Amino acid sequence: MFLCASMMCGNYDNLRDDVVSLDKAGVDMFHIDIMDGNFVPNFAMGRQDVSTIRKHTAKPLDAHLMVSNTKNYLPILVEEKVDIVYIHPEADNRILESFAYLKNHGIASGLVVSPQISFSVVYELLPFAEYILLMTVVPGFSGQAFLQYMHPKIEEFIDNKRKYSYQLFMDGAVSPDIIKTYSKRGVDGFILGSSSLFRGNNNYAETIKSLRAGD
Ligand code: DX5
Ligand code: ZN
Repeated sequence: MFLCASMMCGNYDNLRDDVVSLDKAGVDMFHIDIMDGNFVPNFAMGRQDVSTIRKHTAKPLDAHLMVSNTKNYLPILVEEKVDIVYIHPEADNRILESFAYLKNHGIASGLVVSPQISFSVVYELLPFAEYILLMTVVPGFSGQAFLQYMHPKIEEFIDNKRKYSYQLFMDGAVSPDIIKTYSKRGVDGFILGSSSLFRGNNNYAETIKSLRAGD
């Protein structure tokens, strides 16, 4: 299972040290939430943050775009050498062109599914996405409650994994209990934010170890 650190929940006083400690603690990937204050009513990380994170780890980076003009950000993310870009279909009415652009630049295509977007709305896009990021909170803010009505949809995406051959990740209020339950069910990766990794104790190595052990 892939454990990804949600860097918007990280230590902004010292991003470099945080990246180094998380890397050493054994996270598998760095999740970077990019928000423009328009697609979602919040700001989050920007180009300089991506660049700093890239500089201090060799592990994969994924960018979760919560922006209105997806297309404007893609060349920047190519230059900053991210590994996966997640796009919201409701933010990009030419998403297949965006995926093709990413593919041409050696970046994996990711599709983010917001709580109000059902499987039937996105299934035609699934053959074009290597990663699916299932949102279990409304995108925009960390520290929200897990949306319980997402459980049937998670099952639906698990059931369709083999047919479409995507990797399935979950984002939003992902707690240790959720990881325990859904790693067994076949979810491949989890975005760790304020509900698991960034709970204030900052003992990243211990947290990662206990999440992997299923404690
Ligand atoms: C929400 C973000 C998440 C979030 C996860 O819009 O995409 O990455 O920060 O953190 P928690 O665990 O606080 O929901
Ligand atoms: Zn995210």
